[in-house]
Amino acid sequence: MSEHSAPRSGGVRTITASIGEALVSARGLQKSFGDRQVMKNVDFDMLMGDITVIIGKSGSGKSTLLRALAGLTDPDEGRIMFDGEIVFENQQRTPVWKEVDSYVGMIFQSYTLWPHMDVAKNLTLAPRKKLGLSEEEAMERAKKSLAEVGMSEHLHSRPSQLSGGERQRAAIARALMMEPKLLLCDEITSALDPPVAAEVLGVLQRLKEDEGIAVALVTHDMAFASKAADRLVFFHEGEIAVNTTPREAFNQTDHPELKKFVDAVRF
Ligand SMILES: Nc1ncnc2c1ncn2[C@@H]1O[C@H](COP(=O)(O)OP(=O)(O)OP(=O)(O)O)[C@@H](O)[C@H]1O
Ligand SMILES: [Mg+2]
Repeated sequence: MSEHSAPRSGGVRTITASIGEALVSARGLQKSFGDRQVMKNVDFDMLMGDITVIIGKSGSGKSTLLRALAGLTDPDEGRIMFDGEIVFENQQRTPVWKEVDSYVGMIFQSYTLWPHMDVAKNLTLAPRKKLGLSEEEAMERAKKSLAEVGMSEHLHSRPSQLSGGERQRAAIARALMMEPKLLLCDEITSALDPPVAAEVLGVLQRLKEDEGIAVALVTHDMAFASKAADRLVFFHEGEIAVNTTPREAFNQTDHPELKKFVDAVRF
């Protein structure tokens, strides 16, 4: 991250992928819960500087993929590469994963902030612990992160004092504290009114443009997908059925499931 890049503490790799190069490559991911196969054979690439919008019916496996990329769940089969290094293979995380996992941020639909701490504490906790920043360094970074999402005046607010949109922007600011290269967003605007959702998504678009990070976003917001996404991925029954530009996806009438889905949520 250009302006406030600080060296990471020991054992953390420097990321070398530049804009347009693969930051994440997943191959042959499979995952079952009981006898239900949730990811069947997922190949998925994310390029540095791209926003990838992921759409698909409920239960099609979108969150499972994001969780696998974030290290929150392990696939049963397949391989995940991060910045050219294998981070998951043979059903386990490799030692490299621990050296890069702090570059991966994930934001959820709700419950993203600790309710009993103010915004400053919410933001500074992880970088102090994981990156070894001093309190002053962490506070300095918190102010910058909040400014990036237009939330400077809320440094000492409690989550209960924030609106839904402000909470999600604070959650993005908290993810930014770790200077992520990959930001995984799982339906982060689903509980918000359209104009507030647009504001939050606008923050992501600006970040992508300013910082050149890779963003994956599960959303039903087709207006955002068509405007801001570089790739549009359609999940269908545990498989990536379509992976193309939004323009092509919206014109793709030969995939009946995608057509049904896009027609149903069309803006
Ligand atoms: N920890 C789990 N244990 C058992 N089943 C699970 C678990 N996590 C997910 N599943 C199942 O896997 C399937 C895919 O779930 P996933 O959350 O990836 O879907 P999704 O595409 O994100 O759906 P939604 O749009 O509703 O969020 C679902 O049928 C879900 O019930
Ligand atoms: Mg989900």
